[in-house]
Amino acid sequence: MGFDEVYRRSIEQSERFWAEAARGIEWDVEPAQVRADGRWFADGWLNTCHNALDRHVAAGRGEQAALVYDSPVTGVKRTYTYRELLDEVARTAGMLAGLGVGRGDTVVIYMPMVPEAVVAMLACARLGAVHSVVFGGFAAPELAVRIDHARPKVVLSASCGIEPSRLVEYKPLLDAALRQAGHRPGHCVILQRPQCRAELEPGRDLDWAEALSTAEPTGCVSVRATDPLYVLYTSGTTGLPKGVVRDNGGHAVALYWSMSAVYGVAPGEVFWAASDVGWVVGHSYIVYAPLLAGCTTILYEGKPVGTPDPGAFWRVVAEHGVRVLFTAPTAIRAIKKEDPAGEWAAKPDLSGLRHLFLAGERLDPDTYHWATGLLGIPVIDHWWQTETGWPIAANCVGIEQLPLKPGSPTKPVPGYDVRILDSAGADCPPGTEGAVAIRLPLPPGCLPTLYKDDQRFTESYLTRYPGHYLTGDGGYIDADGYLYVMGRIDDVINVAGHRLSTGAMEEVVAAHPDVAECAVIGVDDPLKGQLPMGFVVLKAGADRDPADLERELVTMIRDRIGPVAAFRRALVVTRLPKTRSGKILRATMRDIAAGRPYRTPSTIEDPAALQEITDAL
Ligand code: COA
Ligand code: AMP
Repeated sequence: MGFDEVYRRSIEQSERFWAEAARGIEWDVEPAQVRADGRWFADGWLNTCHNALDRHVAAGRGEQAALVYDSPVTGVKRTYTYRELLDEVARTAGMLAGLGVGRGDTVVIYMPMVPEAVVAMLACARLGAVHSVVFGGFAAPELAVRIDHARPKVVLSASCGIEPSRLVEYKPLLDAALRQAGHRPGHCVILQRPQCRAELEPGRDLDWAEALSTAEPTGCVSVRATDPLYVLYTSGTTGLPKGVVRDNGGHAVALYWSMSAVYGVAPGEVFWAASDVGWVVGHSYIVYAPLLAGCTTILYEGKPVGTPDPGAFWRVVAEHGVRVLFTAPTAIRAIKKEDPAGEWAAKPDLSGLRHLFLAGERLDPDTYHWATGLLGIPVIDHWWQTETGWPIAANCVGIEQLPLKPGSPTKPVPGYDVRILDSAGADCPPGTEGAVAIRLPLPPGCLPTLYKDDQRFTESYLTRYPGHYLTGDGGYIDADGYLYVMGRIDDVINVAGHRLSTGAMEEVVAAHPDVAECAVIGVDDPLKGQLPMGFVVLKAGADRDPADLERELVTMIRDRIGPVAAFRRALVVTRLPKTRSGKILRATMRDIAAGRPYRTPSTIEDPAALQEITDAL
């Protein structure tokens, strides 16, 4: 069956389509209903960890590599077979159960890219507990907000992470977060890494290795398909992140299906998502999908450049026999910057690599052409979000590889009825830009709600266009049905593939004692795609050197949001462009910063304010 036919079936006969896909999963109780009360597989029971590990061992894959840990920052490489990974996970689940963690309890995981992070996630899944992984580049207050919202029974962390330029001590960050948070977890279990030992607080903190040494392996707890597998906080338009909920059943079905249909990967093959377990790409395509599909997954603790050189990715591909590589365009741009002629890619044998998939931000045509010329394989842009958990638009090479068009992530993936809507909610004609929306129902695997906040879920995603999910991206579909995603239409930005909220940064900047008001917008950056930039108006009487103020604001964002925000610039202006009703004209500011033509809104309070932004840049 060709792509268009598969796609048509997925929309017109969605229940039949997903019922067939659900056969790829081992259920404890098969779902009798594919979709009921707005949920997928609602009466099915399963365990995600069983599907990721136990079933493969039972089917004879025990001695196959499940996880390859490759860490150029420590010099360690280690392969875990499916049997070994299962053993680690079962014992870690036993350790957590011994600390009182059971079905429905939450566990926060604040860890670097070490195998124990993957093991911890799967151990939670095994118990039917709900993990919430917090990315290591966030500062203590961001961790505190997540701890207070998720209310974990246990926090799992490590003594340190290793960035190329420095050791990041996680434990002092965790301690600071716990001082700020109102919630008290029963225990913190700390993995002591050889690079740095953390101080443990007696009673509360446990040494991971010690706690594990006495733990008994534990079996899988059967859960409802609709029970949450994890909560992953992602940036919204305010300082309070959104807790995206992922259920067990729909997630397992969709991710399993995506490995063959979207990525064209077979069981036993090596798949590498060069991302971080703290992001959705890491959850879906470092941990769950490759293991559900019986593949070998790579856990890479390093960067595309500087660990030690721009050949690092190509070395890993050749050394471990990677068939499909998935990363962010920014990583390719970083490699291109240091190795424009692609000399590092010429040395290792890359003949086994079939496809390079890129996501996290729009794949700019320059990077597309460079990577295609370098590797001589299809370079595939695909578009998705934390909320969906798997691609919304892609070139589904496992079904039928369609011609590629630079600048487009090809067509909507089966299951996603993507529409371009105008401000009145009508479908835009081909080639006309509008809001990218998805007609309900969303396919399996997409978020059913926000954690403990059904109202915010409805207001954020379902209210603007009734009957549709609002993606927050703008774009268009061309006459051939190819989608073009042009960028966010809200206050979310993407910095080096990391999703951040300018609203959250504004809250921090506005807290500076000399700042009367401010706006933070994303401006284009040739390496990171976008970078945040602040515009601040000083309080009357505040006589500040702009460079000093900028330094203070940079430190505040680093301390309160984290280094990953990459906030480096804050410009002082006398006023911000606003409408007469006081709304800051952020969209117009974004246009000015991007050098795009803009229209001065008729409701503007003072047109000279726009000129001041132009002059400041
Ligand atoms: N723990 C602690 N700190 C972290 C961190 C982590 N897990 N990840 C990043 N940081 C820090 C970095 O050390 C850096 O700190 P600095 O300001 O002191 O130098 C800061 O956060 C910004 O990091 P990053 O955005 O990674 O920038 P970089 O200049 O170090 O590297 C790239 C640039 C392009 C090489 C890098 O961003 C990259 O590999 N991006 C790919 C992202 C990705 O995989 N995204 C997931 C979607 S697929
Ligand atoms: P995240 O939730 O971190 O995955 O970020 C999701 C957002 O990143 C999307 O809403 C888009 O704005 C952007 N994004 C991700 N992949 C792409 C892509 N291939 N093309 C354009 N934008 C993308």
